[in-house]
Amino acid sequence: MSDLILPSDLITTLQHARHLAVLTGAGISAESGIPTFREAQTGLWANYSPEDLATPEAFRRNPKLVWDWYTWRRELVAKAEPNAGHRALVGLAQLVPRLTLITQNVDGLHTRAGSTDVIELHGNLTRCTCLAAGHLVDAALVDAALPGETAVSPPLCPHCGSPLRPDVVWFGENLPRAALQQAVAASQSCDLFLSVGTSSLVQPAASLPLEALERGKTAVEINPQPTPLAPYMDYVLRGSAGTVLPALVAALDPGG
Ligand code: OAD
Repeated sequence: MSDLILPSDLITTLQHARHLAVLTGAGISAESGIPTFREAQTGLWANYSPEDLATPEAFRRNPKLVWDWYTWRRELVAKAEPNAGHRALVGLAQLVPRLTLITQNVDGLHTRAGSTDVIELHGNLTRCTCLAAGHLVDAALVDAALPGETAVSPPLCPHCGSPLRPDVVWFGENLPRAALQQAVAASQSCDLFLSVGTSSLVQPAASLPLEALERGKTAVEINPQPTPLAPYMDYVLRGSAGTVLPALVAALDPGG
């Protein structure tokens, strides 16, 4: 990336960091061909509003519409591959003593890239759960079992027969408690916080960089566009995840 200048003091901070916390959003998967949420024309919500698709009320009102939207998203994800940004985070984890990866994404691409112990704040759309008992069911098994339009939508739990839903967090729902606690703890204990590919609009994830900043930690925004948190960041690297993250890895490990 010719016009990306990495500040030398940021590289020095990265070289001395004992614990790196990284928060990712839909932007890191954009270069894998997965639409982000808020890009109006091509975004996931181009034809619907979030309230039509990503709330418990929407699921109660029109379970088939919501189920079909997530099936479409699973098909998108299944065809997608992790990109250079995902892979750079795997490399970064091998170059620093400790890296905590926190994602808002439900596409599972960090894990497919090789990242481990990923904190999935908003769940994972490759898993389903049932309304009656919270049984977890692999969505691939469900999709494979549904012969086209004739199947019941949403499908029923193989364990208890109650309707299935995607194992993701919808608007108005609480985040998985343990995941959020781990994410807050990492944001408070890290030396360096990278916020990558998120519009920083959705709470509580959007407050994680502030947990670091309030404790005097260094925070970096990596995004082609400014977000509301940009003015508070120590560094803003105005570029795509797929170019900025590999550049950070190269700066940390020139011989790599
Ligand atoms: P958004 O769609 O709100 O924001 C995507 C961000 O990625 C924007 O700031 C873009 O500028 C940026 N971006 C686009 N391409 C990029 C690239 N190649 N590299 C880096 N950044 C890029 O998605 P999120 O911030 O992830 O929650 O949205 C947060 C949450 O809102 C989602 O997890 C979802 C949604 O409601 C739930 O569904 C609960």
